[in-house]
Order: sequence, then structure tokens, then C-alpha cells
Amino acid sequence: MAEARPEAGRRLAAGGGLSGLWSRVRAEAAFWQGALYDAVRFRRHAWLHRAHSPESRAARMLADAHFLEYGMALREARPGFGLARAARLAGDLRDGGSGGPAAHIGLATLRGWADFNRDTALPPGIAPALALTGGEGIAAGVAQAGGAPPATDFLAFAQSRRSVRHFAPGPVPEAAIRRAVAAAQAAPSSCNRQTCTAHVWTDRALIDRVRRHQAGNRTFGHELGGIAVITSDLRHWEHAGERYQPWIDGGLFAMSLCHGLHAEGLGTCFLNWSVTPATDRALRAEIGLDDSQLVIVLLGFGLMPDSASVCASPRLPEGAALRLNPPLAG
Ligand SMILES: Cc1cc2nc3c(=O)[nH]c(=O)nc-3n(C[C@H](O)[C@H](O)[C@H](O)COP(=O)(O)O)c2cc1C
Repeated sequence: MAEARPEAGRRLAAGGGLSGLWSRVRAEAAFWQGALYDAVRFRRHAWLHRAHSPESRAARMLADAHFLEYGMALREARPGFGLARAARLAGDLRDGGSGGPAAHIGLATLRGWADFNRDTALPPGIAPALALTGGEGIAAGVAQAGGAPPATDFLAFAQSRRSVRHFAPGPVPEAAIRRAVAAAQAAPSSCNRQTCTAHVWTDRALIDRVRRHQAGNRTFGHELGGIAVITSDLRHWEHAGERYQPWIDGGLFAMSLCHGLHAEGLGTCFLNWSVTPATDRALRAEIGLDDSQLVIVLLGFGLMPDSASVCASPRLPEGAALRLNPPLAG
């Protein structure tokens, strides 16, 4: 079989013979190069042994604070749990200072935890941390949830979103972007570390500089009213078991952002970041993104035209997405 011509930058199949073998070798090499690139960056920035950057320390404070609030929110919450985490959080607060949002949340949570444990003997480092200032007025610890959520037909809302590849001219209102990002921030995150950021450009020339690194928008990207590069901070991750967590948290954040923009009446289209290390480096150089920031995905958006053609194919049947109460093995 002759080697198929690439379409939209993608080769459809490797041919036979020597050229096919060569293209398979290249695909294999690209796979290992990409895997190594990801692994080395995760290893370089994650706090495997110690939190060696203020960002890692901030993430650790959020994670430790979350452990404490988690324990207090359990049905069988018991004083005396989380002593080691509280001691580490107190140490980070003492060493790193209590400035910054993560420290404020950490300190407020530590106060709530200390109150919950008022009849328990606490490790010696806790009291000096409690004497720090900051975090006053933050509702940390435990809150009450319940009752019906605000009335929405989420299924109808989710099904009304389609990837849009035509946009109306005109500026995207900044307030809509801010509201959508607030929705993205409401997404759950591992140990509440909130590692993700949306880097957003709405200026035509800047959108073009960003989007030229991404192949999947070539035919319509010139119509975008905004582009978001969604990243996860690798310094917020801890151990080997979390090596894929940036993509998971990033996906949740990205989808919430996408739904947030859709709720604001904007059109959206995800733009894959399935790229080589060289392309990843080029985008990061273009936008001045530090090596510690892992690009998860891009999201194009813009004003909806009165009518836009979208892809119509339906989803697969429910059976492809749900196996309800399947029998267990054995
Ligand atoms: C991670 C991800 C990357 C995507 N990348 C692109 C892309 O580069 N270009 C594009 O036109 N669409 C892209 N899409 C959109 C998908 O093609 C689209 O979501 C899918 O066909 C389902 O259609 P719908 O979004 O209209 O429901 C991407 C979607 C996801 C989730």
C-alpha cells in the first residue's frame, strides 16, 4: 500500500516497504521522546521528596488543609486525627510566612481544626502557627451543604453544547470570561490544590500568535474571539502516583470552563495539545510560559453567530458509556 498523504497535518496510515518501516520507527521514537519529556518535567517540578519552591509549599498547604477539613467533615469526625498533617501545615506556615491565598486558607483551616481539637494535646509547633496573622474572615473548616441545587436541566444544557467553528465578529465581553473562569474554579481538584490556570487572549494579533502553534484550528481560528491555554502547575504535584493527575484535573477544569463559556452564550471549540516536545516548547516560548507549567489543552471561543453549522453525528448508544452494576470477576 502506498503511504497515504497527510490530511490536516495527520498521516492516515503507514505504507509498506522501507518507507513504511521508517515511518513506524519514527512513530515509535516520537512516542518514547514524548513520554520521556513528560516524565522528566514531572520529576523536575513535583515535590517528590521536599517542597523546594514556594509554589510547591503553597500546594502542600492547601492539600494538608484539605486533609484536616476532610476529617472534620466526615460523619464520624473524631478529634485527634490529622496531627502529623497539622504539624506539617503549621511548619509550612511558620517557615513560609502566612502571606498569600493558600497560606490564608491553610491558617484559617488550622484554626478551625485546632478549635475542633480543643480537648486534644496538640504538637508543639501548632501554637506558634496559630499566633500568625492572616486568613481572618475566611470560612474554612466545615460548611453545610444540602437541599436541591439551583434548578437547571443539566442534561439539556450539556447536550446543547456543540463544538463551534464559525464565530461572529466582535469582542467577547470580559465579564463573560471572568464568570466562566469562576465556573472552572468550581471544578473539583485533587486535594483541593487547584493547580490549573486559563491563560486567555482576546486581542486578534495575540490570538493569532498563540493559535499558529496548534494545527486543529487552521481552517477557522482566524474567526476566534478568544483563545485559552489551560495549564497545570507541575510544582503542585507530589508523587509518582500523581503523574497523570495534571491532565485529569486539567480536563475537569477545561470542561467546566467550556461549559461556563457556553452558559454565557459563547461558542467554544477545544483545540488539542497532542503535540511533540518541540511544538510544546515553541508555544511555551511564545507565551512566556515557565517550564513548570504543563499545557493541557487549548480552548477557542467567540461570539455565536445567529446560525452556525455544527457536526451533527449523534453520540454512541448509552451502552458504550455505561455498564450499570456489571457482574464482578470471580
Ligand atoms: C481534547 C480535545 C481536543 C480537540 N481538538 C480539536 C481541534 O484541534 N480542532 C477541532 O476542530 N476540534 C477539536 N476538538 C473537538 C472535537 O472534535 C469534538 O468535541 C467532537 O467531535 C465532538 O463534537 P462536539 O464537541 O460538537 O459535541 C477537540 C475536542 C477535545 C475534547
